[in-house]
Amino acid sequence: MQYDTLIRNALIIDGSNSPGYRADVAIANGHIERIGDLQDACVEEEFDAAGHVLAPGFIDVHTHDDTVVIRQPQMLPKLSQGVTTVIVGNCGISASPVSLRGDPPDPMNLLGTAAAFVYPTFRDYRAAVEMANTTLNVAALVGHTALRSNHLDDLFRTASADEITAMRLQLRASLEAGALGLSTGLAYASAFSATTDEVMQLTEELTAFGAVYTTHLRSEFEPVLEAMDEAFQIGRHAKSPVIISHLKCAGAGNWGRSPQLLASLDEAAKTHPVGCDCYPYAASSSTLDLKQVTEAHRITITWSTPHPEMGGRDLVDIAAQWNLSLLDTARQLQPAGAVYYGMDEADVRRILAHPLSMVGSDGLPEDPFPHPRLWGAFPRVLGHFSRDVGLFPLHTAVHKMTGLSAARFGLKARGEIREGYWADLVLFDPATVRDVADFNDPQRAAQGIEGVWVNGVLSYRDGQANGRRAGRFLAREGDLREGFR
Ligand code: ZN
Ligand code: CU
Repeated sequence: MQYDTLIRNALIIDGSNSPGYRADVAIANGHIERIGDLQDACVEEEFDAAGHVLAPGFIDVHTHDDTVVIRQPQMLPKLSQGVTTVIVGNCGISASPVSLRGDPPDPMNLLGTAAAFVYPTFRDYRAAVEMANTTLNVAALVGHTALRSNHLDDLFRTASADEITAMRLQLRASLEAGALGLSTGLAYASAFSATTDEVMQLTEELTAFGAVYTTHLRSEFEPVLEAMDEAFQIGRHAKSPVIISHLKCAGAGNWGRSPQLLASLDEAAKTHPVGCDCYPYAASSSTLDLKQVTEAHRITITWSTPHPEMGGRDLVDIAAQWNLSLLDTARQLQPAGAVYYGMDEADVRRILAHPLSMVGSDGLPEDPFPHPRLWGAFPRVLGHFSRDVGLFPLHTAVHKMTGLSAARFGLKARGEIREGYWADLVLFDPATVRDVADFNDPQRAAQGIEGVWVNGVLSYRDGQANGRRAGRFLAREGDLREGFR
């Protein structure tokens, strides 16, 4: 047998949550052809892993990369972390199906300006991803707020029966074209007025497809448990798996409650397929939300349309300079983006370590001064939390970003190193891998990522992208409920 690539002498951490083992891996036609002692194999390209870790390529289950995968297909912030697949369309906002009437409403503006929204149907979006030759694999959810923006003249009310019918038709067409499921962003003003019933009716479309419901909860503050109950109620109604997005205890009054949240998640999991994703930082980021303006913790401005010069500065400092209250300062800055230092480290660690949690960056690629999770989430879990803090073994860290994620989202033949699987792979040095991006200098590539293969194609090596683009659009395959057993 002639192989395309042979990676020799690797410590294979296969994504299944088992400890590593030494082997060589041979790749042919985009797939992992053989794993074992392949000393005499005949190959085109050899790679000496020097005992470093070979893992499945990381799956970023929570992204807002909808339009940058097409507009900036190199995807360096993710590729440089070892990510090989991104799931887009989270938090109720997706690039498709969307027909804007003017500027994108908050928070759809996180995905770009009006010019970026050129996909009236999911099929159009899928075709554009396929045409773009993306570097990474792309799978997509449909956003509830996106559907609302197509059919409601006013987002600050619940939808009428006719509007719900129209949204359901678009959702069904998207699911037929390969969408993974529906996401909501019920905390945002543009979706907050949607009743539970509105969402339940939409999710009835998911049932026949075995598609997933993901949700940025109606509240991550004091009413977070009630918001989780609402999510589980919706999921049970639709007989759909529920993924809670970036699970957290937000706001100082809410700190220390992660054991309650995780107990609620565990309880729901006894009778229903549920899970969550999270990012490994005690600060969140989104558009600047007046409801989240507080003196209780630090807030930095990342971008502001009327005052771009304020990017990177603390809200408190800007308020002092302008001699205004925090709230009035925030009003002057809008539309704007912010980082909120509103979590407790102990809660972040507890949620990250929970067996039902996956890693998702929630990175904001449009932001000129982004939260460092955009460039650092995955190496931070491997280096900081697994190796340095000892929160869990390395094979568990890898599982939370590969095997678990692929199972939950039904990404067939991905997320593990197994013969016959797609050769999405990352080679990294477990002793040196670490996130370098921080809140002061957030756009820096991780250290220790030595090689990244997407569908068998080496796309990143020793700190450099090589411009090869072998990503694919991944349509939903089969019933996602099966990935929760
Ligand atoms: Zn969100
Ligand atoms: Cu998000």
